[in-house]
Amino acid sequence: MSRHEAVSDSAEARRGFLAKLLAVCCGGLATLPPLVAGAWMILDPLRRRGAAATFLPVTDLASVPDDGIPRQFAVVTDRVDAWTGFAAEPIGAVYLRREQGSDTVEALSATCPHAGCFVEIESQGKCFRCPCHNSTFTLDGRIVAPSPSPRAMDGLECQIAKNGQIAVKWQNYYTGIAEKVARP
Ligand code: FES
Repeated sequence: MSRHEAVSDSAEARRGFLAKLLAVCCGGLATLPPLVAGAWMILDPLRRRGAAATFLPVTDLASVPDDGIPRQFAVVTDRVDAWTGFAAEPIGAVYLRREQGSDTVEALSATCPHAGCFVEIESQGKCFRCPCHNSTFTLDGRIVAPSPSPRAMDGLECQIAKNGQIAVKWQNYYTGIAEKVARP
């Protein structure tokens, strides 16, 4: 091989190396946006983990007769997820109950602690029953054995304003476990 051919081969090899390096860099840059977007979606709920449960207006005292029978009410609020805002969306439901002559209201989440279905009042109004796997609860939320639910219905804090407006501190809890642990 002549000296001229050797120099030409070396320049060719250098050009090939630079072309490969450029391709690798461009490929790496192209994968960055989806990686960043994915990381943002994963981290976003973690970012919002600290958000405290808030009191949301649900109904008024006149709508909860003092006969010991729970009434179901939707919990409605403006909701914002990662990208979109939703005005006045139902985010859950609660049962409110008042004993005879009482001005205090008990609030129970309508979400079944077993796997998250909506608990219903059974036809005779004597207990709650979950249609998914037949968990049964007393009207004040205790488990009636045998039931697959690992815990009683989740009680919620309740406030009654001077004008009779009832607000509930809305919170979701993890299902399928015996402890009542708030979800972020
Ligand atoms: S979800 Fe209610 S019993 Fe299973």
